[in-house]
Amino acid sequence: MKVLAILYTGGNAAREEPRLLGTIENQLALREWLEGQGHELIVSDDKEGPDSVFQKHIVDAEVLITTPFHPGYLTAELMEKAKNLKICVTAGVGSDHIDLNAAVKHGVEVLEVSGSNVVSVAEHVIMSILLLVRNFIPAHEMIERGDWQVSDVARNAYDLEGKVVGTIGAGRIGFRVLQRLVPFNCKELLYYDYAPLPEHGAKEVNARRVEDLKEFVSQCDVVTVNCPLHEGTRGLVNEELLKHFKKGAWLVNTARGAICDRDAVAAAIKSGHLNGYSGDVWNVQPAPKEHPWRYMKNPLGGGNGMVPHYSGTTLDAQARYAKGTRSILENYLTDKPQEPQNVIIGRKGYETKAYGQR
Ligand code: NAI
Repeated sequence: MKVLAILYTGGNAAREEPRLLGTIENQLALREWLEGQGHELIVSDDKEGPDSVFQKHIVDAEVLITTPFHPGYLTAELMEKAKNLKICVTAGVGSDHIDLNAAVKHGVEVLEVSGSNVVSVAEHVIMSILLLVRNFIPAHEMIERGDWQVSDVARNAYDLEGKVVGTIGAGRIGFRVLQRLVPFNCKELLYYDYAPLPEHGAKEVNARRVEDLKEFVSQCDVVTVNCPLHEGTRGLVNEELLKHFKKGAWLVNTARGAICDRDAVAAAIKSGHLNGYSGDVWNVQPAPKEHPWRYMKNPLGGGNGMVPHYSGTTLDAQARYAKGTRSILENYLTDKPQEPQNVIIGRKGYETKAYGQR
């Protein structure tokens, strides 16, 4: 059996830090185990274009392992060529880089390691909200420059206490974000999701559901995006929706870059309509050097908390998703049923509702 894994390069860091399991160097700790059973493992970060390792080996691989952090984009066209492919495993959470409708058409299963990095992301969301609201980055940059002018940063620094914070998507991550916000004494916590939270969950976080998205964003000082990317959420936060945001609101997106329109967000930051944007996910990854989200600033010279896609790939998360990937492969190899929460596309098609199949 040929297993193809598209992972990110770890370089020196991965050679020095073996817990960087999700890298091409450390290979999710799968090589010895797979080769010991006579399987072939191809691992690479080379994923773009017809001559890439990804496109060359996808034609006869039976198993594809990918990661959202360096996504091997399995398009419908590539899926046509993948004649031997039976199962795609996402080492992490979020399988939007796989054409899911094509997977259904070709009877290819898609699994991910559900829950493996939800705490990692929720913590990053809280950090991102705080660094925007408190205007942390320009303050730190001032110190690095050797300057000291408190008023220049304090003029755009606020407390999170007393603000209205809302999440688009209140699933595993969105709910954990709400839980972590409770001690901050926000004015109100809101959520927008297809489905209401279970009663005990809604009570625990004391969050109010708003069913209309425009109404939802118009009430929030901070919006955090925690829903999957699918046909219904691509470009959801666009120029039109941004008009309904409160002037000076902060937006945090650690879900998927393409949920927010690249140029509309950059324009809203530039004009100050959004006071800040923060997150780790980009519409294309790696993000090109000229991507406006790298450089955008609000009129006061701050409001940008962008980082590379790493919130869900902490060392703790890598241990969990490497273990989960192996367990999915073990089930596949021994024909055992998969954990239901990991199944995005099962043998009978869509098995999760989070991807918009409602
Ligand atoms: P989940 O499946 O537990 O929750 C997603 C929630 O979004 C569900 O409650 C669903 O009903 C809701 N939803 C779906 N479409 C919606 C829409 N159009 N409007 C409002 N709500 C909608 O997923 P989980 O674990 O919370 O992850 C969410 C997303 O976060 C993943 O799909 C992935 O894209 C992203 N993620 C990012 C990571 C990172 O490193 N930045 C790591 C892990 C996940």
